[in-house]
Amino acid sequence: MRSETPAPILLADYTPPAYLIDTVHLDVDLRADGTVVTATLACVRNAGTAAAATNPPLVLDGEELETLEVAVDGQVLPASAYRIDAETLTIATVPARFTLRTKVRIQPDANTQLSGFYRSKDGYFTQCEAQGFRRITWFADRPDVMARFTVTLHADKAAYPVLLANGNPVGQGDEADGRHYATWEDPFKKPCYLFAMVAAKLDVLRDTFATASGRTVQLAIYVEPGKLDQCPHAMEALKKSMAWDERRFGLECDLDHYMIVAVGDFNMGAMENKGLNIFNTKYVLARPDVATDVDFENIDRVVAHEYFHNWTGNRVTCRDWFQLSLKEGLTVFRDQEFGADTHNRDVARIREVRGLRAAQFPEDAGPMAHPVRPASYIEINNFYTATVYEKGAEVVRMIQTLIGREAFRAGMDEYFRRHDGQAVTCDDFVAAMSAASGFDFTQFMRWYREPGTPRVTAASAYDAQARRYTLTFTQANPKASDNAPYLIPIRVALFDAQGQELEGHSRTLLLTETTQTFAFDNVASAPVPSLLRDFSAPVLLDYPYTPAELTLLLAAESDPFNAWEAGQRLATGLILEATAAIAAGRAPVWPESFTAAARTLLTGYEARGAAFVAEALTLPGEATLAELLDEVNPDALHAARNGLRRHLAEALHAEFAAAYAALAPTGPYAPSADQAGRRALRNVCLGYLLERDAPAERQRAQDQYAGADNMTDQFAALAALANANAAARPAREAALADFYQRWQGEALVVDKWLAVQAGSRLPDTLATVQRLTAHPAFDLSNPNKVYALLRTFGANLVRFHAADGSGYAFFAEQIKALDARNPQVASRLARCFDRWKKFDAGRQAHARAALESLRDHPGLSRDVGEIVMRALG
Ligand code: PHE
Ligand code: ZN
Repeated sequence: MRSETPAPILLADYTPPAYLIDTVHLDVDLRADGTVVTATLACVRNAGTAAAATNPPLVLDGEELETLEVAVDGQVLPASAYRIDAETLTIATVPARFTLRTKVRIQPDANTQLSGFYRSKDGYFTQCEAQGFRRITWFADRPDVMARFTVTLHADKAAYPVLLANGNPVGQGDEADGRHYATWEDPFKKPCYLFAMVAAKLDVLRDTFATASGRTVQLAIYVEPGKLDQCPHAMEALKKSMAWDERRFGLECDLDHYMIVAVGDFNMGAMENKGLNIFNTKYVLARPDVATDVDFENIDRVVAHEYFHNWTGNRVTCRDWFQLSLKEGLTVFRDQEFGADTHNRDVARIREVRGLRAAQFPEDAGPMAHPVRPASYIEINNFYTATVYEKGAEVVRMIQTLIGREAFRAGMDEYFRRHDGQAVTCDDFVAAMSAASGFDFTQFMRWYREPGTPRVTAASAYDAQARRYTLTFTQANPKASDNAPYLIPIRVALFDAQGQELEGHSRTLLLTETTQTFAFDNVASAPVPSLLRDFSAPVLLDYPYTPAELTLLLAAESDPFNAWEAGQRLATGLILEATAAIAAGRAPVWPESFTAAARTLLTGYEARGAAFVAEALTLPGEATLAELLDEVNPDALHAARNGLRRHLAEALHAEFAAAYAALAPTGPYAPSADQAGRRALRNVCLGYLLERDAPAERQRAQDQYAGADNMTDQFAALAALANANAAARPAREAALADFYQRWQGEALVVDKWLAVQAGSRLPDTLATVQRLTAHPAFDLSNPNKVYALLRTFGANLVRFHAADGSGYAFFAEQIKALDARNPQVASRLARCFDRWKKFDAGRQAHARAALESLRDHPGLSRDVGEIVMRALG
């Protein structure tokens, strides 16, 4: 049992740092018995603070440091002059301005948390956000302390030929015993979470970018030897991002060197360290035969995201970690816009919302619900969440919706004019937007402050005499601290019974009251409203649509998001009714009107776009549907959703087969939006076709698997087979075995192989996953493997939430094993328990037992402890 619960850190307790650090010189000496880090810090008392007059002690952060020496102004301090405890170094009295030198030894080879300085296959890498720098040297590890860094690395030259740090190379040379050194100087002040260094054996792809003002930036992507042919896509993505940020926001790259280093062991996706991004290989490496269309697009997005951070995050950074969404929400919004501009805006928005509903809405409804700007945390690493990132992006998007694109751009300019080089808050960002637009955001700030998803209920009335149509909205958010209303932008359009959009009635309504009515005059007949176009606010919207109205919107709405949304609403209604029917032992009914709507979509894909139709024919996911139920019966829900798939497969067999044939590739593979859309729809068709128990369908999937010249089609066939029914078992096993045989040398492809099995709907999936934990392809110390196998299983609603609790018990044991090595990754797995209270009493009892066994596990990390404590509530 935990001896004590760590105290939460509160936003309300923020105080400015007592000492600032102007410059940092790091000397990093990599040796067999550890790495010795000598840090020379130019420190100065922070004159602007109340405490300055009192000569406060110097308190620095450190973790797992073996302290060899502490010196102030060149004088080595006796041990009695300072105090070291588990997390701090305190020097009781220091002058107003002084130089601190510390020498510590760290053990990167033993660093399994992958935070700080750690070993991966090809060498040594860093990860400092949020608080990893303190695992490298004693420092004021907080983002409002910004310093200029110079770093010298020393290492064995043959083993670690590449020595990198942030900024510009200013010196290098050989040393005795086959060693060498390199010195890097970063001209920009930065918080230490943006520090990075690398000592490794890597290949490099080089390129250049000419900025708008005519400077040349040297670009480099460093990867594991032998992988250079998987780098060009990331390089193109980088250059596209650089050009896009100049065009859209007038933001030019400020660096002479922009480097990306790919590493196979990485807790997150990628990291925006100044001038030296460190990336999970997953978001760098791609080649048509090993990466899917989705991988290619994700690489574009993540490369852009980290590049965009150079302005939104690095030039202007966060005052404290509560402000995380200041950089993350804004940067996600920017990468979304980049993705929309470079791929397909319509489906980009649909996918964003699909993702938000699958991850953020459940988070916001569960025990980890927190505001976009949290007010407290126990472990900051637990707050790199869908709420801070994706809901944060929605909040920024609403600001643009409220003031318009031009004012938003002016607001960005104003933000940089005011705050370049500073560490600021979300309020500062919104204040700049307000200054540029004149818009009053006072009420809007509720979006930053409150947890929970607001629910908006709409009702309509039509007065034929007065030719007046009214919409009345009511809003509520039971998770909020009070019931004050939000400011919610609601884009609406009205359609007549023939599906014509009524001219002059498309507008953005600003909902500011708990209940509010909006009138539309000169409306000739009762219209069909299209509400929340383009998903103009992250809310749950209820309106008593009839199936006929939804069918009309699906066919007629020119806003692709709301057309898709109408289809999702139709399908949701059917699946939830069927779930209740199945739970009660009745057979579900599938109306012909739905089949007809699906048929129209399928046969009309040339006009509507294959990518859109692929999205429209993809039913809402089980996790998203589960949120709409008070108590989830995962077996009934699963049977209902698959029942609808099966029904469509039977009813539209000819149409699916025809589209499948018509969408066959006509030329060589390219990851273009157009081709990707056609492949997506063709593979949706394949999935439906395989719902039928017919040898010819299995053969089709096997043929596609064997004949594909690209990973998108090969993997889609594998995934279809991996989910196929009992009769397809031999075909499934053969394809899985072949896939592993072929790709066992490509780590990222092996991840797909693990994930496709962990996500399978087959009843014996848990047994498969258990078996795979002992397979040589699995490795508990590699986050990508853990996410692929274990987190995919944890998101497999029907199998993870098995009625006998076997999924929960297995998971708890895995989390315990992982927590001892890597608490951050263990904690992410623990989040799979979030929604345990939505299930029946039997499942809840099993989940509670699993959570309590975690809570009582000796040595449980603060990371997992916080998640478990909140889950048990
Ligand atoms: N700041 C990174 C990003 O969003 C994410 C990250 C957080 C990476 C913490 C590592 C550790 O781009
Ligand atoms: Zn980010």
